[in-house]
Amino acid sequence: MSAIVIRELDAAEAGRRIAELGVILRDSVEGGASVNFLAGFTQGEAEAFWRGQIPGIADGSRHLLVADDGERLVGTVVLTLAPQPNQPHRADVGKMLVLSVLRRQGIGRKLLDAVEALARAKGRTLLMLDTTTGSSGDLLYASCGWTQFGIVPGHALSTLGIPTATSFYYKEV
Ligand SMILES: CC(C)(COP(=O)(O)OP(=O)(O)OC[C@H]1O[C@@H](n2cnc3c(N)ncnc32)[C@H](O)[C@@H]1OP(=O)(O)O)[C@@H](O)C(=O)NCCC(=O)NCCS
Repeated sequence: MSAIVIRELDAAEAGRRIAELGVILRDSVEGGASVNFLAGFTQGEAEAFWRGQIPGIADGSRHLLVADDGERLVGTVVLTLAPQPNQPHRADVGKMLVLSVLRRQGIGRKLLDAVEALARAKGRTLLMLDTTTGSSGDLLYASCGWTQFGIVPGHALSTLGIPTATSFYYKEV
């Protein structure tokens, strides 16, 4: 594998690379990650999700960072700027995904560092996210200085339809 580069995709490139983005999302759902979708999620549905992100990327309300190994995209993270006029300093982090075959090699941490730096550059100094309690994401955020401020039991269904707790985090960057 070549060196991993973390970079931002603009709307045009996101459109061109929709199939690769879809593979990353579908791979996570197939592996049981609770990232809004249920088992049986198809490549077409995954691509439709990313297609739906493109208008926000185009208008600057959302930023898509990817991990690129030079041959393919292997990870994603999305920064969504809070739209509320009274929260100009806040943003949400989501779709933190790394291809399952490449996990535990530091790619997730690189994506998280990069999205935090991007948020700072945009003046978004308070970041929030949520993740399944006890998941790999939970362990990643806890190890990267995020503060857990609560757990909601039964907040979301697992990919198999079982009610599962969600941990909520924030970080000042
Ligand atoms: C969460 C995710 C993005 C982490 O990506 P990654 O590239 O494997 O993460 P890293 O290798 O950078 O891990 C950084 C640290 O996080 C912690 N961590 C991450 N995954 C872990 C796991 N499965 N078990 C234990 N610790 C874990 C460790 O502290 C790790 O450091 P270490 O490897 O030096 O011990 C990846 O597991 C993933 O895509 N999961 C499925 C999708 C998902 O649940 N995303 C979060 C939804 S918000």
